[in-house]
Amino acid sequence: MPISSGPQSDRSRQNAVSIEPWGKGDLPLLQKLLGDPAMMEHLGGPESDEQLVRRQARYERLAETGNDRMFKIIHEATGEAVGSVGYWESTHNGEAIYEAGWSVLPAFQGRGIAGAATRLAIAMARADGKHRFLHAFPSVNNPPSNALCRKLGFTLIEECKFEYPRGSFMQCNNWRLDLAVDN
Ligand SMILES: CC(C)(COP(=O)(O)OP(=O)(O)OC[C@H]1O[C@@H](n2cnc3c(N)ncnc32)[C@H](O)[C@@H]1OP(=O)(O)O)[C@@H](O)C(=O)NCCC(=O)NCCS
Repeated sequence: MPISSGPQSDRSRQNAVSIEPWGKGDLPLLQKLLGDPAMMEHLGGPESDEQLVRRQARYERLAETGNDRMFKIIHEATGEAVGSVGYWESTHNGEAIYEAGWSVLPAFQGRGIAGAATRLAIAMARADGKHRFLHAFPSVNNPPSNALCRKLGFTLIEECKFEYPRGSFMQCNNWRLDLAVDN
């Protein structure tokens, strides 16, 4: 069932979004998001066709298994699928956490869409009550993603080395949101 953002200003009305669980038929969106070198500049480069097909199969099964969640972002005014947002279980410094990730197609960036969609995903992570902290680890060289963490109320904990993709380390900011606090 889609979950919608509540539009407040003109900008948010024009760019209202909903999020829907990743589904069959969403491989083309995944290809546009994770198969594009520009989109993946801060994420270790584009994934291969084989990697994308495997990821699509994993995303399709998420809703039935475990606590990880991946959503496509729907731009309500056009009905277009314009991005992804999700959270998954991970460990950081030995602590069980949720980690969040997001991605919006270039034509739709800079309109508050990632912010609105991530607020919806945060509300779901908060509601499921599984982990207290939601982290994000954007590259220190990714200003929009760091700005997104700041505007969503994440606290900057520290810079750290982060392995992504496997075998490749990047310098990241560790941002943390306390899901026990309603912000
Ligand atoms: C990160 C990303 C999802 C942001 O999507 P978006 O829909 O443009 O995000 P929003 O519009 O909600 O917010 C972006 C914020 O970054 C700010 N921003 C953009 N470029 C910036 C820059 N160069 N320096 C500082 N802030 C910047 C915007 O002003 C905006 O903040 P505001 O709403 O307070 O004005 C998008 O850039 C993306 O998909 N990038 C490629 C994939 C990626 O790197 N994902 C993150 C992995 S950690």
